[in-house]
Amino acid sequence: MRLSGKTALVTGSSSGIGRAIALRFAREGADVAINGRDEGKIASVVKEAEAFGRRALGIRANVGSFAESRSMVERTQSEFGHLDILVCSAGVFHHTPFLKLSEEEWDEVLTVDLKGLFNCTRTAIARMAERRWGRIVYITATSGINPPPQMAHIAAAKTGAHGFARSIAAEFASAGVTVNVIAPGLVDTPILGNFTEEALKEFSRRVPIGRIGRPEEIAEAALYFASDESAYVTGQILNMSGGTVI
Ligand SMILES: NC(=O)c1ccc[n+]([C@@H]2O[C@H](COP(=O)([O-])OP(=O)(O)OC[C@H]3O[C@@H](n4cnc5c(N)ncnc54)[C@H](OP(=O)(O)O)[C@@H]3O)[C@@H](O)[C@H]2O)c1
Repeated sequence: MRLSGKTALVTGSSSGIGRAIALRFAREGADVAINGRDEGKIASVVKEAEAFGRRALGIRANVGSFAESRSMVERTQSEFGHLDILVCSAGVFHHTPFLKLSEEEWDEVLTVDLKGLFNCTRTAIARMAERRWGRIVYITATSGINPPPQMAHIAAAKTGAHGFARSIAAEFASAGVTVNVIAPGLVDTPILGNFTEEALKEFSRRVPIGRIGRPEEIAEAALYFASDESAYVTGQILNMSGGTVI
């Protein structure tokens, strides 16, 4: 098993892409901390991870809060003894014309999708560097590479995440910690409920591979970035969009 003896915290793993990643890691031998805001959803993913024979820890925390993120990372470290892998997948996604974009919506997206990465990484990376092994993976979006209209707030957060990841990668490469990014296009998860049916159809039509992505496909890439096999890869952004952005 590729993650045998490793421990991982996956933010936003009560649903969608984060859930698929946490379960893939558990199947590969990792103990996993499951995070989100909904207790019921967290508990159900904890059960699914435990079914692979791994330890699973559910932690309800808002990644937009520095204090809650710090205590989530510290709790994972103390319950599992150490934290090897951090995946930040928690995110909110709205498709909003700029002239309808409110200050609250802007703040929410920037706080969860961008500041959330800082909040979790700030505590986690110090111990990874001390142990001379760590893997950090951020789930962003192709809107951070090729920003579409009506997603200024998402594009700002995801583009910011790309710069953040590359700087941290450069700073911690010599400490044995790699930092990589997966930027998905459309993926079949509950977050797509935030699109109107019309917008979703329009986006799906533009995917050259002819369909939207599956969370399990993103999880395979996350597994690579979380494993020993990717030891020589850091600061990279993997675009997984079925050819939408080339
Ligand atoms: N699906 C796509 O088409 C797509 C495309 C590009 C990028 N992405 C990115 O992929 C990531 C995961 O999205 P998804 O598609 O898996 O959506 P999802 O199924 O809605 O999952 C989002 C997850 O984030 C959690 N979350 C939201 N706000 C949080 C907060 N403040 N603190 C902690 N957890 C929070 C949710 O927890 P609860 O449900 O428990 O509240 C849930 O577990 C996001 O960053 C998103 O921007 C998705």
